[in-house]
Amino acid sequence: MTSQDTEAADITTTDYRAVISCFASGVAVVTSTCSDGTPAGTTVSALTSLSLTPPLLLACFDQTSLTLAAIRTYGAFAVNVLTAGQQHLSACFAGRGSPVTWDGIAYRLGLTGCPLLADVLATLECDVEDRFPGGDHEIVVGRVRQADTGGNGLRPLLYWRGNYPHMAEPTALPPAAGTAAATTVPARTQSRLGAIV
Ligand SMILES: Cc1cc2nc3c(=O)[nH]c(=O)nc-3n(C[C@H](O)[C@H](O)[C@H](O)COP(=O)(O)O)c2cc1C
Repeated sequence: MTSQDTEAADITTTDYRAVISCFASGVAVVTSTCSDGTPAGTTVSALTSLSLTPPLLLACFDQTSLTLAAIRTYGAFAVNVLTAGQQHLSACFAGRGSPVTWDGIAYRLGLTGCPLLADVLATLECDVEDRFPGGDHEIVVGRVRQADTGGNGLRPLLYWRGNYPHMAEPTALPPAAGTAAATTVPARTQSRLGAIV
C-alpha cells in the first residue's frame, strides 16, 4: 500500500494558512541588489538551515516577489535576522518593493554587495547555489559566504499565527549555538549533535 491508495481531503488555502501559521518562526529581511544597482528587500519567515557541510540555507519566495527577481539576476542575497525591537522593519519590508521602503533605513553593503541592515540580530551573506520551483513559490538555496552575530544577546522577532508574540523571559539568555559559551551542553549530547551544538 502507498499513500496514493488513501483518500486525502482537499484542503482550502484558508485552512492551510490557519494551520501552518501555528508553526512559529523567526523573521528576517532578505536583501539583494537590482540590476540598476538599487537595493531590494523583503520580509521572510520561510527560511531554514539546509546543510552544515557545505553551509547551505534555503528561503522560499512568492514567484511575483520583486526581491526574488533581483536575487535571480544578481546571484547573491543577504539574510538580516530581526530583533524583537524591529517589528517596524518587518512591516516596512512586507510592502512590495519600492524605493520608499529604503527611506531612512540604515544599512551598509556586505562582501557580496548586498545590503546589511544596521542593528539586526545576525546577518548571513549567500551566493545563489540553486533554485527550485515550489508551487506558487520558488525555493532559493544559498551557500553561506559570510555569517555574523553582531546582535548576540538580543531577542529575536517571532512570528506566530499572524502576530508577533513576545518571547517568555528566560532567567538568562542562552549563548548562540557554536559559540565558546555554548559548550555547557553535556558531553553525551554534544557527541550526538556533533557540529550543530
Ligand atoms: C512576517 C512575514 C513573513 C513573510 N514571509 C514571506 C516569505 O517567507 N516568503 C515570501 O515570499 N513572502 C513573505 N512575506 C510577504 C512579503 O514580505 C511581501 O509579499 C512583500 O510585499 C514582497 O515584496 P517584494 O515583491 O518587493 O519582494 C512575509 C510577510 C510577513 C509580514
